[in-house]
Amino acid sequence: MRWRDSSRRIGLDVDSPPTQVPELPPSFEILPEHLPRDDKGSVLWTEVFEVSRPLQVEIGVGTSTFLIDIAERNPGINFVGIEYSAKRVAKFLKKVNHRGVSNIRMLRVEAVQWIPKLFSCQSIAHFHINHPDPWPKRRHQKKRFVNRENSLLLAAFLSSGGGISLRTDFAEYAQQMLEVLDQTPGLTNLSGPGVFASIPREPTRTLYETKFLKAGVQIFYLEYEKTARHGPGTSHAP
Ligand SMILES: C[S@@+](CC[C@H](N)C(=O)[O-])C[C@H]1O[C@@H](n2cnc3c(N)ncnc32)[C@H](O)[C@@H]1O
Repeated sequence: MRWRDSSRRIGLDVDSPPTQVPELPPSFEILPEHLPRDDKGSVLWTEVFEVSRPLQVEIGVGTSTFLIDIAERNPGINFVGIEYSAKRVAKFLKKVNHRGVSNIRMLRVEAVQWIPKLFSCQSIAHFHINHPDPWPKRRHQKKRFVNRENSLLLAAFLSSGGGISLRTDFAEYAQQMLEVLDQTPGLTNLSGPGVFASIPREPTRTLYETKFLKAGVQIFYLEYEKTARHGPGTSHAP
């Protein structure tokens, strides 16, 4: 319970996703069943955002303003947030509405199940994964998001030259991420094999990062790029 204990100590919301769905603000959230699709079933993201721009995706947004901050600074990019907790999506959307950022859309879905149904292979410019749940107990570790299978999935959906940025406060999980991602075909560790990034490519801090840094906990950063010719191709058809 180290993580939950330390999360409570620094005042983070560690409730499991609620079953009851709160009322949501009207804009910015898109329901998967309302997404426009072409006759092959691919989502028409240009129609969703009403403009064609590169797509970046944050997985596990929580209630952090990270996505809002980077969307504000990068108006030439469209950002999709994925978060399965209804309570956190509702809180996050209030912040998006308040800031009036137009290049964010939020989906309240589970990432592994939905990425293949939402995106075409090799179509994502960047994935952001910030402080994924660490599942510290040995018997729960199979629930961790970053594993061999999911790394292959992310690599397949990245466009050539695209990237994955990860950060975590949990040292043992950081090591696991490094080993798994370093061995994923098509991904290159920008700091060199077995080496964490000294600074994140995106300096904006997340809610968890800010609170853990204040509590004196070290943050581990990982930065990967999809190399042009060797990435996994089409095993995950949309
Ligand atoms: C520890 S919080 C981190 C929140 C935020 N990224 C930050 O750094 O402040 C992890 C978040 O990921 C969400 N999450 C975990 N697994 C997920 C999945 N498979 N699909 C969608 N959301 C997920 C959780 O509900 C939670 O809000």
